[in-house]
Amino acid sequence: MTELELRDLRKTYSARGRPSVDAVRGIDLTLRSGELLGLLGPSGCGKSTTLRMIAGLETVTGGDILVDGSSVIARPAQQRNIGVAFENYALYPPLTVAENLAFGLKARRRAERGDVDHKVKEIAERVDLTAILDARPAGLSSGQKQRVSLARALIREPDVLLLDEPLSHLDAAQRDTTRRELKRIQKDLGHTTILVTHDQEEALSLADRIAVMKDGVIQQLGTPYEIYDSPANVFVADFVGEPAINLLPGVADGDGHARLSDAARVALPVPVPAGREVVVGIRPEDLALTGDDGLPARVLAHEPLLESGIATLALDGVESPLVVLTDPDVRLAHDDRVHVTAETHLTHVFDAETGDSLR
Ligand SMILES: Nc1ncnc2c1ncn2[C@@H]1O[C@H](COP(=O)(O)OP(=O)(O)O)[C@@H](O)[C@H]1O
Ligand SMILES: [Mg+2]
Repeated sequence: MTELELRDLRKTYSARGRPSVDAVRGIDLTLRSGELLGLLGPSGCGKSTTLRMIAGLETVTGGDILVDGSSVIARPAQQRNIGVAFENYALYPPLTVAENLAFGLKARRRAERGDVDHKVKEIAERVDLTAILDARPAGLSSGQKQRVSLARALIREPDVLLLDEPLSHLDAAQRDTTRRELKRIQKDLGHTTILVTHDQEEALSLADRIAVMKDGVIQQLGTPYEIYDSPANVFVADFVGEPAINLLPGVADGDGHARLSDAARVALPVPVPAGREVVVGIRPEDLALTGDDGLPARVLAHEPLLESGIATLALDGVESPLVVLTDPDVRLAHDDRVHVTAETHLTHVFDAETGDSLR
């Protein structure tokens, strides 16, 4: 059981003749023992750099990394007991799956031969690799390679497990199964884990808590529900959720509403001073098509799907299109007139200038 703490962790890449890059700009984060933290953010925001610093594969520009209260930044990677599975698997092509698994173990501990065999069998069973222990990486599917990479990180019985985009090379069906397996294995073995992903759905379904990152800074840390239901700013609101949240510029009227246009007003969940420029955020599932009341709109497009349809509407006088989830039996045609209503208590409001939530 291990706690991991990052204190004001920073990384600046500087190379002669090139502008320096502030990849990680002061991260504070404490992982509870056995917790699976999803580190979620767009490509280039500093996720891999953060993992590489924790693993000891990259130097630290500032701050500290503590495992169970002790700083590890002075220790080389081999002395940190941190298991890492990278996006590109990094398997040794000439070795079989069993040899790939045994390799890390032998390199670390010069373990007894019988002991190694036993450990390989045990982990292979757990990660469902028993049938392919004698195969070589070239003959494996990407899903199998990804599982070998995971098994190789696990076999060392690490204190901390770091997974960098571990499901990125799988097709949709494989991803679903492997995701469930991964969650089961992580909970079974109880490793304190950081899972890096740019896929919000993966983070929402796997993580105990999510840290949303942008430009080297953590924007919000919370449970999947907290991140989804109470986004701290426009970036988090927009990055998490599919289809994406509607973000509508408006001006508070001081009377509990925001004006989106001369014709369209929406009720706000909290009082906002008159004249303040805001961005109103409404998730597609928190909007409903209603009879005659609500905001008048014109249908631009409708995709009827099995569980629920997706309608794209133009609110009268409003430029940005509005996406609404519709009931499964609803059929809409281009240019149909409809009315749409929002659930006020589920509506979000952000400051237009800072992007921060005003709730
Ligand atoms: N070795 C490096 N030298 C210089 N810049 C780098 C290096 N590795 C990453 N970067 C830059 O640091 C930023 C963060 O990269 P990275 O941590 O790989 O992001 P992510 O994993 O979130 O996609 C990016 O701007 C990237 O170009
Ligand atoms: Mg990366």
